[in-house]
Amino acid sequence: MTIGGGLNEPRDVLGVAVWALLNHPQQLAQVVADPALFPLTFEEAVRWVAPIGMYPRETTKSTVLDGIQLPRGAHLGVVIGAANRDPKVFADPESFNINREKKPHLAFGGGNHFCAGTWVARASVAGVALPDLFRELPGLRLDPERPAVDAGWVFRGMTDLPVTWDSNSASQLSI
Ligand code: HEM
Repeated sequence: MTIGGGLNEPRDVLGVAVWALLNHPQQLAQVVADPALFPLTFEEAVRWVAPIGMYPRETTKSTVLDGIQLPRGAHLGVVIGAANRDPKVFADPESFNINREKKPHLAFGGGNHFCAGTWVARASVAGVALPDLFRELPGLRLDPERPAVDAGWVFRGMTDLPVTWDSNSASQLSI
């Protein structure tokens, strides 16, 4: 869990946050002008596309959940991806918006198994990777010739994110 969680979900939120910012130039200009906004960008990216979209559970006793009778041993899929876009909680939930009203999301789970790496993920992605990326790769932008692809629902992130940026060698990178 520590090795997988330490690599995969931070990678996915980083890719999604970059994709979202490059698609929203006004929000990108905001965070580049004020790097203190990268933590907000991180929280909005994990809400908008939860890197773990679903986790499984099994009931230990019979219970009623939201009016539905569940027997002991029922297998459940807890769909964070849907909860994080619940229109009863989030206004215009399908939109990526770092300026939205701050509300608690479920991207890190809840209860006994709340993600043990939440704070290190915030520190490494919002505190280091995102600001470094936009500082070190000036003019970072999506490659208009090759579409970005996001995929997956249990684990969700970018499977292709072709970008270009300004440099002497006009180099190109896929992350
Ligand atoms: C954006 C990054 C991350 C996201 C969205 C994320 C999400 C989650 C979620 C939803 C769970 C709960 C799973 C469940 O209840 O079945 C979880 C658990 C866990 N995560 Fe993360 N995670 C992230 C980063 C990390 C990092 C960086 C580490 C370690 C360095 C880590 C280690 C763990 C561990 C050890 C658990 C199990 C906790 C327990 O069962 O008590 N995660 N994570």
